[in-house]
Amino acid sequence: MKLITAIIKPFKLDDVREGLSEVGIAGITVTEVKGFGRQKGHTELYRGAEYVVDFLPKVKLEIAVAESTLNTAVNAIIKAANTGKIGDGKIFVTNLEQVIRIRTGETGELAI
Ligand SMILES: Nc1ncnc2c1ncn2[C@@H]1O[C@H](COP(=O)(O)OP(=O)(O)OP(=O)(O)O)[C@@H](O)[C@H]1O
Ligand SMILES: [Mg+2]
Repeated sequence: MKLITAIIKPFKLDDVREGLSEVGIAGITVTEVKGFGRQKGHTELYRGAEYVVDFLPKVKLEIAVAESTLNTAVNAIIKAANTGKIGDGKIFVTNLEQVIRIRTGETGELAI
């Protein structure tokens, strides 16, 4: 199993959620975060105005997937989140040891 952590522009959240639903993703955790990339937040525009602080608002998505679903999910995120402009975000993929569905006690891919 893999854990996808995607940092995206906040206004792209709905598009990304829809794109992931279309490819059958079972669940998503969303957190409002702040961050910066290579431009260190300085030159990036947010809602038409230059942001005066180093950290820009972003949305973090966490999605646990079976390895067989990884590429489909990553491609759906890229397709929906890409504007071609700086600050579009980043996707991190890490190994996921275990998943436990609390209500049923199922584990592993069955719990996703
Ligand atoms: N190396 C990193 N480690 C952790 N978080 C990162 C890293 N790079 C980017 N992020 C997160 O992703 C957000 C968006 O990054 P961003 O898209 O600006 O990356 P970039 O490398 O500067 O690419 P671009 O040149 O397209 O802007 C950042 O605000 C930060 O939250
Ligand atoms: Mg950047």
